[in-house]
Amino acid sequence: MTDNILEIKNMSVDFTTDMGRLRAVRNASFTVPRGKILGLVGESGCGKSTLASAIIRLMSDNAIVEGDGIFFEGTNLMDLPPEQMRALRGRDITMIFQDPMTSLNPVLSIGVQMTDIQHRSRLSKAEKRKVAVAMLQKVGIPDPEDRMHQFPHEFSGGMRQRICIAMALLSDPSLIIADEPTTALDVTLEAQVVHLLKDLQQEMGCAIICVSHHLGMIAELCHEVVVMYAGQILEQGSVRDIFKRAAHPYTRRLLECDPANIREKSRHLPTISGEIPNLIHLPRGCIFRERCSERRDVCRTSSPGIVTLGRGHWAACHLLGGAHA
Ligand SMILES: Nc1ncnc2c1ncn2[C@@H]1O[C@H](COP(=O)(O)OP(=O)(O)OP(=O)(O)O)[C@@H](O)[C@H]1O
Ligand code: SF4
Ligand SMILES: [Mg+2]
Repeated sequence: MTDNILEIKNMSVDFTTDMGRLRAVRNASFTVPRGKILGLVGESGCGKSTLASAIIRLMSDNAIVEGDGIFFEGTNLMDLPPEQMRALRGRDITMIFQDPMTSLNPVLSIGVQMTDIQHRSRLSKAEKRKVAVAMLQKVGIPDPEDRMHQFPHEFSGGMRQRICIAMALLSDPSLIIADEPTTALDVTLEAQVVHLLKDLQQEMGCAIICVSHHLGMIAELCHEVVVMYAGQILEQGSVRDIFKRAAHPYTRRLLECDPANIREKSRHLPTISGEIPNLIHLPRGCIFRERCSERRDVCRTSSPGIVTLGRGHWAACHLLGGAHA
């Protein structure tokens, strides 16, 4: 058994569009350690959801996924026949989405949905109900027995997200992929859901990939962080590496622009000037070059390679060493 539950090697995702091939994720490689929480951060449109969905092959028809493999517990998911992939999804790997209503059926009671989702279990219907009630209790839904009869619209947004977390945990998965699980919630509810995820993860020992652009949440929840920009991973490290000794200019700018780090009173929130490059017509050289205040001539012509900065910490930037620094 390796230390990593998931290993992604050189994965790329393109979308065919009327304007050409959109290169949403390019040569992404990273590992998710067993029983740890990995945060995937980056600005909107950087390819975070595309990468997360490609792992479990929940992609639109115009997607083309290529690469050297997506190894889950040693099995390459890229080679798995569709029926085996379906069996794995919802059992070994489960997903939590930003909008709980994406996963909940509005016309079925929570009780029915939480027992239906256990369809692979050999337990009797009454036992499955008991399991569901216990799981609702675990995620902090008051009076779970009574609330099993209610429909999704009868719960608050925060409660609905807790129910989705409960459903994701029902199959005792070894990996949960949570795409912006708290973005739709207010700050108080967000903090509650983050604490809940953290507690449950410790109790159940599963690994989590958590996609978010909320750096405060990532810092609090995660052990590892992967930083994405315009379809590429630019830095990976422990939460300490990224928040205390970020090496890539993009990571450093992201942190500087995080409202939580802005101490002085200001009328304008700082932003990273410029825009993400067109993913159909990619520029040459470093993908961040147009927006990088530290760029050099070499950054225009040559794409930086990976530089190892410490155990599990690496970044791709010419400033960090190598022949061109
Ligand atoms: N089905 C699709 N067809 C064509 N382009 C797509 C499709 N899905 C996503 N894209 C494009 O891929 C890029 C990455 O999108 P993605 O949704 O993965 O970004 P994201 O980092 O999750 O952004 P956000 O933070 O806003 O959720 C974007 O340019 C998006 O327009
Ligand atoms: S390679 Fe050059 S342009 Fe890219 S982030 Fe580093 S310094 Fe900036
Ligand atoms: Mg997204």
